Amino acid sequence: MNETVSLNLETIPEKLAWLEERYWRFGQDDVLSGYLEDLFEVDDDGRMTSSPRCDPLTGETSGLMLLGGSGDGKTALLNRTLRANPVLTEFTKNQPGNTLFITVPPEATIKKLAEIILGKTGYEKVDPRMRAADAWEISRHRFGLVGIKTVVIDECHHILRSGTGRDVPAAIQSLKHIMQCESGVALVIAGVPTLRDAIMSEPSGETYRRFTECYLPKIPLGSNSARLFGVNFTRSAEKVGVKVDVDDAFVERILFAEHGRVGRSVKLGKEILRNAVIRKRVALELEHAEHIFRKGKGDIGVTPFHPTSWGTVKRELEAIGWGQ
Ligand SMILES: Nc1ncnc2c1ncn2[C@@H]1O[C@H](COP(=O)(O)OP(=O)(O)O)[C@@H](O)[C@H]1O
Ligand SMILES: [Mg+2]
Repeated sequence: MNETVSLNLETIPEKLAWLEERYWRFGQDDVLSGYLEDLFEVDDDGRMTSSPRCDPLTGETSGLMLLGGSGDGKTALLNRTLRANPVLTEFTKNQPGNTLFITVPPEATIKKLAEIILGKTGYEKVDPRMRAADAWEISRHRFGLVGIKTVVIDECHHILRSGTGRDVPAAIQSLKHIMQCESGVALVIAGVPTLRDAIMSEPSGETYRRFTECYLPKIPLGSNSARLFGVNFTRSAEKVGVKVDVDDAFVERILFAEHGRVGRSVKLGKEILRNAVIRKRVALELEHAEHIFRKGKGDIGVTPFHPTSWGTVKRELEAIGWGQ
């Protein structure tokens, strides 16, 4: 964030645009990077390369499963981590990178996903009558042809939904086959926690054991990540010209209100700042934050933004079981 602090923001739209695209760092990236590195070979300096680790006895690579609730920040974290990674480069039709990023649309079947991969890797001859298994075989072959070494599948739980016309066992197999293909591809999948349950439904557990699980960490009050969240919030407020009184404990209240869930806490923090900018307020006030938090929540009684001392509000809310 330091590099942008020197730019002066004048108009309201300028400030809002700046705020919206700000990525707040507080250590989650390092957690994910740590897991990601384990999927790859290292160079002589011990740094990760773009070559997936492959078990020489079986010829298989392995996978990583990023799990978290909806809105927790999985997609933002994945995008950020991949962009910041020095060896993984995104593959697009116009750019020969080594990493393919796919977002599964809500209704996609396993065949549809294979077709999306074929399209993204420049295979134009998709025959609609093609069987899912064949589409997948060609997809895996394409990885080798175009130099894709890592496949990232976001919203992966969508292909594992059961229902008519859906084949969950085949979907699980397709994921396993990605890690068994001859060109050696590392697989990263992200989704809500039911993704893990769906993969575990395979009786043999063969696919599940090939994945390491990484849960999106929360931001506990008093932790270093909470401190860094505070730094991001305060710097952003400064940048858009809104004063924050430390004694009001805005940061603690936001994290408490959203139970430390990253995406939601960032969103609420930004919403509070956005509102102050739009209304040209010089300083943040608890009453306004409370109003924003209440929106869409109905009558929820006392909120963490109740305008009395934070210690008192916290005790009161804990007594009614807010933190659980
Ligand atoms: N570290 C972050 N900095 C800024 N915004 C974030 C951050 N993490 C999440 N967000 C925002 O929170 C919202 C939800 O995140 P998203 O990645 O879509 O969650 P998920 O993929 O887990 O459903 C998005 O608007 C996203 O931009
Ligand atoms: Mg997402």
